[in-house]
Amino acid sequence: MKVDNKNRGKDYQLYIPYSKVKKKVKEIANKINKQYKGKTPIFIGVLNGAFMFMADLLKEIKIDCEVDFYKLSSYGDDKISSGQVKSLKELNCEVHNRHIIIVEDIIDSGLSIQYIRNDISKEKPKSLKVVALLFKNGVSKLDFKVDYVGFRIPNKFVVGYGLDYAQKYRNLKGIYVLKN
Ligand code: IMP
Ligand code: MG
Repeated sequence: MKVDNKNRGKDYQLYIPYSKVKKKVKEIANKINKQYKGKTPIFIGVLNGAFMFMADLLKEIKIDCEVDFYKLSSYGDDKISSGQVKSLKELNCEVHNRHIIIVEDIIDSGLSIQYIRNDISKEKPKSLKVVALLFKNGVSKLDFKVDYVGFRIPNKFVVGYGLDYAQKYRNLKGIYVLKN
């Protein structure tokens, strides 16, 4: 882990600096720009966690696109997934026959993304892909492939860059691990 003088004495420690995150986001956007050339996909961000990732990603998207958000609740204030997923905000856009890209902050157990993917599939989009900034190795039991992954990380609880613990830390610019 990097020495992080700025955050000495804090209850979190730098894990991935913003410079690295930005570089990775640009790489992902470039792939999407190439693969969706001539198409007008709808990016669907998963609230609340994906708001920063969504903003940075969309700034690097050069093709025509639309934006919407999906809101999900599953965690409460726990670090472990409750297994209870429910949708709090449905989509405003017409998904049928459109190219859809779901933008998720992190995939942990995989329950949330499975739920959202199933829900959106019901509307019969023309195509459906998933982009996740972070993916916890060895935790997720997914029956589909995540199309774009930023960083594969071990099973650590991370915060910052939109990610919270008990609603705090979303405003941190980089990605951090909480100290025990
Ligand atoms: P899953 O359903 O277990 O895959 O959890 C996905 C959701 O839980 C993510 O969209 C996050 O909002 C939240 N989450 C999972 N792991 C973390 C973490 O390490 N830090 C903060 N939030 C997390
Ligand atoms: Mg989330």
